[in-house]
Parts: sequence; C-alpha cells; structure tokens
Amino acid sequence: MKIAFFDAKPYDKPSFEKYGQEKGIKLKYFETKLNEDTVDLAKGFDGVCAFVNDTINAVVIDKLNEMGVNVLALRCAGFNNVDMKYAYGKLHVLRVPAYSPYAVAEHTMALLLTSIRRIHKAYIRSRDYNFSLANLTGFDLHGKTVGVIGTGRIGRVFIDICRGFGMRVLAYDKFKANDLDNGDTIRYVELDELFENSDIISLHCPLTEETNHIIDENALEKCKKGVVILNTSRGGLVDAEALLMGIKSRKVGAACLDVYEEESDIFFEDNSGHIMEDDTLARLISMPNVIVTSHQAFLTEEALENIAETTVNNLISFFENNECENELCYRGGNTQDCKSGKCF
Ligand code: NAI
Repeated sequence: MKIAFFDAKPYDKPSFEKYGQEKGIKLKYFETKLNEDTVDLAKGFDGVCAFVNDTINAVVIDKLNEMGVNVLALRCAGFNNVDMKYAYGKLHVLRVPAYSPYAVAEHTMALLLTSIRRIHKAYIRSRDYNFSLANLTGFDLHGKTVGVIGTGRIGRVFIDICRGFGMRVLAYDKFKANDLDNGDTIRYVELDELFENSDIISLHCPLTEETNHIIDENALEKCKKGVVILNTSRGGLVDAEALLMGIKSRKVGAACLDVYEEESDIFFEDNSGHIMEDDTLARLISMPNVIVTSHQAFLTEEALENIAETTVNNLISFFENNECENELCYRGGNTQDCKSGKCF
C-alpha cells in the first residue's frame, strides 16, 4: 500500500516509519501541503495522509477522485479543513479522534502560567543578566474562575489540571457530560454566565459554523475586565481583530494562542527571514501580554506515537476490511463517526 504523506516534518517520520514498516505501508513524504496546487502529487498512490493545515476542498476532492484516490487519512482529530459535505460519496475520511488530550491540556496550562507569571519576560531578562522584578507581578490561579468551552477529552483534562490549582470551573458544552457538574466547584452554565464570571476562558470545542468566532466583540464586551483568553483549539474560534481591539482597550488582560485563524500559510514554517504580511498577527505578537505558539500543543513524544499508530491502523483496517472505526461521515447535515464504512 502506497500513501502520499503531505506537510511532512522531520518529527513525523520516526514514528510513521516504525509503524508503517511494521504493517507494510510505504509512505512517500512530501514537505508541501496538500491543496489545489499540489494534489497532482497524489497520482499513483492508494491514499493520502494530511494534517491540520492541508486544504481538502471540492477541487482537491474532485482531483483525488479523478486519480482514483478515495481515502484520506487525517493524522489529527479536527476536520474543519475538509469539505465533509462535498466529500460524502467521493472520499473516505479517516482520522485520529484522540491521541493525547494531556499533551494539549498541559500545553494550555503551560501557556497560562507563562503568561500570568511573566515567565516569557523573565527568561529573556535573566539571559541578559537583568534581574530586576519590575513589571513581573502576576496573580494566583488559586481561587480564580476558569470558563471552559467544550468539555470533551481535552477540556476535561484541562478542568482536572485547573482543579489541581484550586480554581473554580464554569463549563459550557452543547452536549453536557452527565458526570462533570458537581454543583459547586464545577458547574455547567450558559455562555453569557461563563463570559460574565470567568477570569480566564479556555476553548476546547471543535470549529464548526456554530462555534466560528465564539469569542468575538460581543462576547468580549460581556467579559470581565482583564480576562485571559486561551485558545489551543482552532483559530477560527476567535475573531482575531476583535481580540486585538480588546487587548488595545485593556479589556483583555492577556491572550495565549496556539492556533490562529489564518495560520495555514504561516504556522509550521520558518518565516524569520520574511516580512510578516498578516498585520493582525504581527500586532498581536508585538503585544507584551500575548503569547503565540505555532500549533504546537499536540507535539509530545506520546502524541506522535499515538498519531502514527492510529493512522497506520486506520489505513490497514480500511484497506483490509473495507471499514474503519475512525471513519468520518457526513450525513443529514452533520459530520459524525461512521461505524458501518458503508456510507457510500
Ligand atoms: P472532543 O470531541 O473530545 O470534545 C469536543 C467537545 O466540544 C465535545 O464535548 C463537544 O460536545 C463540544 N462541542 C461541540 N460543539 C460545541 C458547541 N457548539 N459549543 C460548545 N461545545 C461544543 O474533542 P477534543 O479531543 O477534546 O478536542 C477539542 C479540540 O481541540 C479539537 O476539536 C481540535 O480543534 C483541538 N485540538 C487542538 C490541538 C492542538 O495541537 N492545538 C490538538 C488536538 C485537538
């Protein structure tokens, strides 16, 4: 079985080589992203493997179809970069639903602590033998209220971590878990109550039409002055312009972003020798109270191993049994897990 592996990075290869060789899958690594301009590279392959910033739109799906490639193995959980509606009946879409919720939740807390204890500033100062403490005053997390939007796998691990710090949790989810709300330190509330009462807001829901810009000007207006916004989920959840305005007006106390709406042409690449064309991102990065990482939250050894193992198993299962428990399917206006493998 030959798979075209797009947006390949050096850290992907060791685990994919290990599991690929074990299971007899030949992977051809392409550094370029999968999109309308590069899809022709998939000619002659049995399937394609893609990541978060590849673009699998109608044109790409049609071209894959013409080439007889009808399997897309996403090596990530989110699938907002795939036109699932258009893919229905044309492309089998496999994914890795969970690989390490700890990786993402722990990175979220790392960003929060870095930001509010000014570690990013202190690190640079002490490297320059500047041991002044001026302007490094932070605040305790203990006793603060964190609003968590999305209480799935990652959201719940993040809630556990926050509880370890003695924080109170206000949670919001379209589909509530029935074993989470304890009526005291963790409570499900409506979005407005979460916005109005949270010192920190962390996003852990998928990007959908409903959640697009869930943090916008209107939402920020309802928030407490000094609110800290954490986004390690998907860039489109936050209206970056509105966030920038909120920071400039001092309404937002700090923001930690591992994802950015327009990240696909920027993140994962070394742009240090280039002029930054995206003024909003450039301005956000220039702020002393904004920390940006480059969609790095997943990047742990454990997660990379799990991603490779599950992706390879998904492909084997699909090609050997014509079904895969991690296949996605668009039916009745919703993307959902497709257990039958017989959706088209
Ligand atoms: P999950 O599927 O376990 O949980 C998502 C939760 O969001 C579910 O409880 C679901 O009910 C809820 N949800 C769905 N629609 C909603 C809405 N309209 N409003 C509020 N909540 C809604 O997913 P998991 O594994 O916890 O991942 C969450 C997100 O994290 C993913 O969608 C992905 O975008 C992001 N992610 C980011 C990574 C990174 O490296 N930065 C790595 C992995 C995931």
